Amino acid sequence: MLSKNNLRMLLLSALLFLGCTTFEKESSKKQYTTWSSYLGDSGRSHYSTLSQITPENVKDLKVAWRYESQDFGQMQMNSIVVDSLLYGVSAALRVFAINAATGKQVWQFGDSVQVSHSTSRGVSYWEKGDDRRILCTKGPDLFALDALTGKPIESFGIGGKVDMRSGMPKSAEEKFVISNTPGTIYKDFIVMPLRLYEGVGAAPGDIMAFNIITGDVEWTFHTIPESDEAGAGTWGDKNIRNSELVGAANNWAGMAVDEEKGVIYVPTGSAAPDFYGGIRKGSNLYANSLLALNADTGEYIWHFQFTHHDLWDRDLPAPPNLLTVERNGKKIDAVAQVTKQGYVFVFDRLTGEPLFDIEEIKVPASNLKGEEAWPTQPFPSSPKPFARQSGELTENSVSPQAENPEALRHLLKTADSRIYAPPSLEPVLLLPGYDGGAEWGGASVDPENAILYVNANEMPWILQMGEQTADYSGKPLGEATYQKYCVTCHQSDRKGLAASGFPSLIDLQLRKDKNETSNIIDQGRGMMPGFPQITDSEKEALLRFLYNQEIQYTVVDKEAKPDEDTKSNPLHVPYKHLGYTKFLDSKGLPAIAPPWGTLHAIDLNTGEYKWSVPLGNTPELGEDGIGTGTENYGGAVITENGLLFIGATRDGFFRVFDTQNGNLLWEYKLPVPAFATPAMYEVNGKQYIAIACGGEKLGTEKGNLVLGFALD
Ligand code: HEC
Repeated sequence: MLSKNNLRMLLLSALLFLGCTTFEKESSKKQYTTWSSYLGDSGRSHYSTLSQITPENVKDLKVAWRYESQDFGQMQMNSIVVDSLLYGVSAALRVFAINAATGKQVWQFGDSVQVSHSTSRGVSYWEKGDDRRILCTKGPDLFALDALTGKPIESFGIGGKVDMRSGMPKSAEEKFVISNTPGTIYKDFIVMPLRLYEGVGAAPGDIMAFNIITGDVEWTFHTIPESDEAGAGTWGDKNIRNSELVGAANNWAGMAVDEEKGVIYVPTGSAAPDFYGGIRKGSNLYANSLLALNADTGEYIWHFQFTHHDLWDRDLPAPPNLLTVERNGKKIDAVAQVTKQGYVFVFDRLTGEPLFDIEEIKVPASNLKGEEAWPTQPFPSSPKPFARQSGELTENSVSPQAENPEALRHLLKTADSRIYAPPSLEPVLLLPGYDGGAEWGGASVDPENAILYVNANEMPWILQMGEQTADYSGKPLGEATYQKYCVTCHQSDRKGLAASGFPSLIDLQLRKDKNETSNIIDQGRGMMPGFPQITDSEKEALLRFLYNQEIQYTVVDKEAKPDEDTKSNPLHVPYKHLGYTKFLDSKGLPAIAPPWGTLHAIDLNTGEYKWSVPLGNTPELGEDGIGTGTENYGGAVITENGLLFIGATRDGFFRVFDTQNGNLLWEYKLPVPAFATPAMYEVNGKQYIAIACGGEKLGTEKGNLVLGFALD
């Protein structure tokens, strides 16, 4: 018989033995201690194993350093850190390197190139031996900078930059092509996300790999195929790519790469024009798809399409997450993709096989002439959606905070709120809204334990189409050009839609000189695309219109008519989108009952939710505003020891949640909101978390700070 003591000894040695084996496993496990790539690593995990900051001491976090950038405004950037330097981008696209422990600036790049306010989500880093480069973009140009000095690498492209359109068809030369998300590095290549025009005549969303040493284009993949390439039969016209009317299907949200297997995972967006697909009949491959491509050659491996024949701008909004899931005791390398529609889809990374069944469900038909909405759309059997769906709304879903519930109830009753209700001349209620569901902040995963954390918006928007009339024919050129390109967002009366983020252009002369406005028209600003397709004479007239100098038009010039033949002429389609309108109450708050912003933990082994909590408060509502959740943009960072860090909310807090149960462990009121994903790193043995606070979005104040938090 074993004595108590013997038993204890036995248990102890068993424990020791177990301890050793776990220790061995631990040491061979991949470490996540650096942040040298967008969202932490090339699997876009948003994950760190650094452990100085713990659930117990997180309440003692303090601002350890602050960096004030030269210009104010939206900063969506996720900083990266290499050795002791932190790299970031300001609101006007100045790239900077600062000491990651003090915030002191080491170099800045961008003064020599035209300053432009176009949001950037960050930069990429590459090294080979002593050669260390930062890759960044401004306008259509991709720059390679010396990571230590910020000086352009002269041997890259022409004088340190390449025009990303160099890998595109000649017809794209004059088109709007920029990038706001860092490229994905694989060996000596950088594969670039692109932001394009979304109306008629957009550039095609080619996926392009540039050589980081030379700037040459190494490979391209056509998301809108040539007539002899796979997928060409899904567009109505096999030669759609060369029609130049239909474009986009671009990746703008960023990508993930499995470096060991050499496979790059590329989520794409809708084909353009958005909202009307009568000139692109068919499922439209490879728009709205997750593409697995050979990272060395760009060759197709597999794809899955999330929205067939997109009519709702259901771009894939964030890079996918690479992780390992367990099925029937077996480990499977997987890739998870969150969507604007509010779902997460999980696939076997190698084969593209879905790990939860996906069902094609019948959706409503279109009543617009020439439109053929796709009859079904895919839904995963599990996990359940992480954002409320329009189909769940009833007239009782009106916000209890609203002062005008009757009017709101009426719209809820009359608007078409069926899931995937196609655009129509009558209002359609879009929930999740245009930006999602999941937005560009994306999801975080614990790559070994397969728990996915995602923040979501529950903001309904109204989608409505109008007949495309040649409103502008016969009008003076300036007004006509305005009608053609600007009304959707700034509205016919030029008053904009402030609540949806589209500023008024009334009294523009009091705020901006013509040169600045002219730059905005060429290059875009924030979420506004640029319009390089507007000709010089159109622009001249448009500026006069905007500055109320239209008197001059009475001299009717024969040429003073918008160019009817341009590929970007909206008259190529019979309908126009009436604008991006949020469904709000009379106080400007979401018109449906809260929560308006949420945070979730989902176990991707089982598809079950671990927890869901509201994210953020609505201070305008006082006590009632606690726990309503708010609109939020920007993602989280999670740690192995159980912390989830997130800014993102309109109320401007930086928060830490317990990953086990969603309990709030700490919150800190930022000087202005942080619509950005934090970065976690270590310098000189000290753990930091940095976050950019640029505000401006959702009507908040503008800022210019990057803050680094640490324990004392
Ligand atoms: C897709 C929507 C959209 C379209 C189309 C659009 N804009 Fe904008 N515009 C915006 C948004 C959003 C902003 C705010 C950008 C920011 O500062 O972040 C803006 C800002 C501006 C501003 C700066 C206003 C200020 O007071 O700061 C000007 C000027 C402007 N737009 C002119 C135009 C003109 C002219 C056109 C047509 C050629 C146009 N926009 C088309 C969305 C749009």
